[in-house]
Amino acid sequence: MDDLRIEKYLSRRSSLLKASQVRELLKWIGRDVISLGGGVPDPASFPLDELKQILVQVIEEKGSSALQYAPTEGVEELRQALAKFMGEKGIKAEAENILVTSGSQEALELVARVLFDKDDTVISENPTYLGALQAFSLYEPRLEGVPMDDNGLIVEALEAKIKKVVASGRRVKLAYLIPTCQNPTGKTLDANRRKRVLELAEEYDFLLLEDDPYSYFYLDGVEPRSLKSMDASGRVIYVSTISKVLAPGLRMGWVVAERDLIEKLVLAKQGVTLQSTTLCMYVLLEALKRGLVAGQMPKLREIYRVRRDTMLEALDEYMPEGVTWTRPSGGMFVWIEAPSNIDMDALLPVALNKYKVAYVPGSSFHVDGSGRNTARLSFSYPPLNALREGVARLASLLVEHMSRVS
Ligand SMILES: Cc1ncc(COP(=O)(O)O)c(C=O)c1O
Repeated sequence: MDDLRIEKYLSRRSSLLKASQVRELLKWIGRDVISLGGGVPDPASFPLDELKQILVQVIEEKGSSALQYAPTEGVEELRQALAKFMGEKGIKAEAENILVTSGSQEALELVARVLFDKDDTVISENPTYLGALQAFSLYEPRLEGVPMDDNGLIVEALEAKIKKVVASGRRVKLAYLIPTCQNPTGKTLDANRRKRVLELAEEYDFLLLEDDPYSYFYLDGVEPRSLKSMDASGRVIYVSTISKVLAPGLRMGWVVAERDLIEKLVLAKQGVTLQSTTLCMYVLLEALKRGLVAGQMPKLREIYRVRRDTMLEALDEYMPEGVTWTRPSGGMFVWIEAPSNIDMDALLPVALNKYKVAYVPGSSFHVDGSGRNTARLSFSYPPLNALREGVARLASLLVEHMSRVS
């Protein structure tokens, strides 16, 4: 078997699989390198005592069900509880509108699996969530990116993009959006623009895929209404997760959609995982019943407000003139933009080896590989002093290289 070359057996599809730069960077954590890379939740946010009690209770009281196979769509009681939870967010749903998934990442994959044919036009914000690009790319859609400003996706640019697609004899099938505290930019789509996005979806008859991991701890006032809560015709597919609210290791996410789409997603999921982990479904069910999920929100807001503010203060203090950044209303990320002649991809090895700081180069989040002068910084994980130090190190790197290329 020594000289077996696996390459000659690989499918054409497998050549579309690309390593995630974020996952690659995780390897550097703990080697003196301060990571502003992955969006890893602060473990101080995990409700350890309550989860321990819940686990014991679930095993003791529901062991024979919680360790058994369950329906692909999810444990019925959990689907009901998630429908109720969604109702508290203004989203009308019944259990039949809910599919429980293994994190929202699986939800994105399943949606792409059942909706995308090769060369279908799919629009997203540019930049957008790397994991969505990874999931979508296997199905070979044509990805079209639309730029953002401080108020999120520019709706005039969206309309111009749609018109261009239509003029070329194609149609837009779906727009994938992260309207609240977007990954990677931290930007939030403003209320009027949300309405306009829905109008455009009606007018040009495309679906919307709303990805919403971060709205639960929106920091600046009233959380904006989700697209799904304003959806009159059932064209919004809403995807969310407990990863940032309880713990990502539970791998619990869900989809809210019309029943006929849920039925297709269930069939797709059967061939992939059969079902999500029964034990974790019961844990999430009990956490929802006890009000633990809702009870997490004030703590999360406190943790991430301090973290965001610490990063923003450090950026104000250390960054050289010519570098700009976003001021997010929540989420886990700040997006920085260096002068156009600075190449953040090329600087990453220098950052890791010499300055001992990790960030994610912005080009990986762009559908067209642009944005080489940008980067995503995560404020979610390092201790606060390391956060400040990480920003200071990154600033030193930029100062050195900006003076060199100017
Ligand atoms: C926008 C977005 N969508 C989906 C995910 C996937 O999260 P999970 O699979 O843990 O629910 C993430 C994780 O960071 C994200 O930022």
